[in-house]
Amino acid sequence: MKSRGFATSLFRALLAYFAFCGAVAFCAFCAAQTRAAQPKAPDTMAARVKACAICHGQQGEGTHNDYFPRLAGKPAGYLAEQIRNFREGRRNYPPMNDLVAYLSDDYLDEIAVYYSKLRPPRAPFAPFESSVSASATPSRLARGRMLAQKGDAEKGIPACIACHHQTLAGMQPSIPGLLGLSADYIRAQLGAWRSGARRAASPDCMQAISARLSDEDISATAYWLSMQPYNPDLAPAPAGSVQLPLQCGSAPH
Ligand code: HEC
Ligand code: HEC
Repeated sequence: MKSRGFATSLFRALLAYFAFCGAVAFCAFCAAQTRAAQPKAPDTMAARVKACAICHGQQGEGTHNDYFPRLAGKPAGYLAEQIRNFREGRRNYPPMNDLVAYLSDDYLDEIAVYYSKLRPPRAPFAPFESSVSASATPSRLARGRMLAQKGDAEKGIPACIACHHQTLAGMQPSIPGLLGLSADYIRAQLGAWRSGARRAASPDCMQAISARLSDEDISATAYWLSMQPYNPDLAPAPAGSVQLPLQCGSAPH
């Protein structure tokens, strides 16, 4: 189940990568055609993030590809940190790593602020997500809900809401909300932390937590979270609203 899910995610991600390369080649061709005739385009934020929209949506709402995350409404500090992580190889997805390789800190901070202020509704998930409803059995959903809201003291797993806030909308400036994301994306991120493919500043609390979650726990939490209603107007809680139960290097107290 897990490896099949991972294989399909990877396959879809690769497909998107090729689509993306095609689009870049095509745009380069168009640009060459029009460069002579057109005056220089103004350097607006909308122009800067055009390359991002193909995967993250016009307003950062995500796309029907359930592997591509929503960006809109996440705290700016979190988004900027993630772009740096891709730039410096602490997260790996080649199209992202390539696109941001040469972004300066100022430029990426501005992009992060731009997306953090957008409030579009969530993009509809892909039809593949219907497989989720079949696998999301009541006992799995109950386990997912328990981990999210209460944690599992015996396994040393704090509740997700202990850091991601009781609304699960995250907290300023660096804790992301967990709603409006597909089960596939959430599963892939927790798996990547466990295997070391995704890294955050030390101490990496999400690495510690993922290591304590079983495969079944990861699926249960991902299903439950992806099935909760998402309200784009629910902003991340103000800084300091919750006292983190573990230290997180990317979210210093
Ligand atoms: C070809 C598709 C593609 C393009 C183009 C793209 N992204 Fe991404 N982006 C992704 C995928 C897929 C992920 C998740 C990768 C992973 O598993 O870590 C991601 C992750 C992110 C994240 C982390 C989100 C989170 O919640 O942790 C940020 C921030 C981001 N992208 C910003 C951008 C920006 C800014 C641009 C344009 C300069 C851009 N992306 C262009 C596919 C893309
Ligand atoms: C001790 C605090 C803490 C707890 C408890 C916690 N998280 Fe996190 N989580 C964070 C921080 C900090 C980040 C941002 C990490 C970074 O900078 O990359 C994060 C990021 C994430 C992300 C990445 C979101 C994205 O858009 O890519 C996911 C998924 C996630 N957490 C899931 C969970 C789940 C599921 C639980 C409960 C089982 C949980 N977290 C419990 C602190 C916590």
